[in-house]
Amino acid sequence: MSTTEPRTGQSTDRPAAENTGENLLEVRGLQKHFPIRQGIIFQRQVGAVRAVDGIDFSVGPGESLGLVGESGCGKSTTGRLITRLLEPTGGSVVFDGEDITHRSPGRMQEARRNLQMIFQDPYSSLNPRHTVGTIIETPMRLNGINPPQGHKKRAQELLETVGLNPEHYNRYPNEFSGGQRQRIGIARALALRPKLIVADEPVSALDVSIQAQVVNLLQDLQREFGIAFVFIAHDLAVVRHFSERVAVMYLGKIVEVAGRESLYTRPRHPYTHALLSAVPEADPDAVKRRERIRLAGDVPSPIDPPSGCRFRTRCWKAQDRCATEEPPLARAEGSPTGHLTACHFPEEPTVAAREEDIVLDPALG
Ligand SMILES: Nc1ncnc2c1ncn2[C@@H]1O[C@H](COP(=O)(O)OP(=O)(O)OP(=O)(O)O)[C@@H](O)[C@H]1O
Ligand SMILES: [Mg+2]
Repeated sequence: MSTTEPRTGQSTDRPAAENTGENLLEVRGLQKHFPIRQGIIFQRQVGAVRAVDGIDFSVGPGESLGLVGESGCGKSTTGRLITRLLEPTGGSVVFDGEDITHRSPGRMQEARRNLQMIFQDPYSSLNPRHTVGTIIETPMRLNGINPPQGHKKRAQELLETVGLNPEHYNRYPNEFSGGQRQRIGIARALALRPKLIVADEPVSALDVSIQAQVVNLLQDLQREFGIAFVFIAHDLAVVRHFSERVAVMYLGKIVEVAGRESLYTRPRHPYTHALLSAVPEADPDAVKRRERIRLAGDVPSPIDPPSGCRFRTRCWKAQDRCATEEPPLARAEGSPTGHLTACHFPEEPTVAAREEDIVLDPALG
């Protein structure tokens, strides 16, 4: 792919945040509390980091859901809970009709064939002592997959699929650039023909000029192979080109989820407004139209999150009720079906920006 410009994705604006058909992935009340212990010999728990604190969402077959939020809001933890690299504290994960919430690592093998992950750092996620061929073939061998054309030929085909030269088969990761390494990681994830890929900030470690190429490659793969994605990013501009629906996280909670167009043009949660106001736009007039919102203060600690609405300590609309009553994630009046907002005082559903105004600016990452 020669272009470094992102392509605009399909214009599908899924009406329902909760899909009506069979879901590939169903997450209900998911929680991860990391215990904080004290003491040298007799360790006791003195608290917990509430990294993910009761979230619900679903992903349909072949669908892409973007998961966005500031650093530390629990995105990677969510990705690791779904792929069961972490054990949840509460809630459930149902993948492809099977409850995998508490599956043992041995029994996860089967589900992992269909549930792969792409990591943020292409430098640490590939074993430097293995050739590219070994890296791509290992998941096939571990899962007893014997392609008719043989492992080597299949690995070389996968290299071509991700835009690399099949002759790279015998080379080592350190001979490649970051973008190329990420392509190797993608080829490895594709080797098992998964139904769902959780991509945890797959482009944020890459050079600015390479980011859009890798996003476009993932989008091609999503369309060609019908793979569903949970695409994690802290930048709304990146997922805007990739995800049909977007969920916004704040301090371990989902505060807003909606079809792409609805979320980007008519955000209802003040936090989404603030995030969108930081996204650069292609059209200078659009910049004038949109007021830039600077969030006051830091993100509170997930060890002791604010009562009621967690965003209230930084919210310009907060009132007494926000401190005592946690707002449910529900449809706000005036929003389309499936556009859910967790706010007692949602913003007016006015057009915040034209969707095409929003550009991919990797400098934000
Ligand atoms: N193993 C762990 N033990 C204790 N706390 C953890 C652990 N892993 C993550 N956390 C904490 O959980 C919270 C959420 O972390 P997480 O990595 O999921 O955030 P994130 O949204 O992916 O952030 P980033 O954008 O920086 O990658 C943070 O406060 C983090 O410090
Ligand atoms: Mg992360």
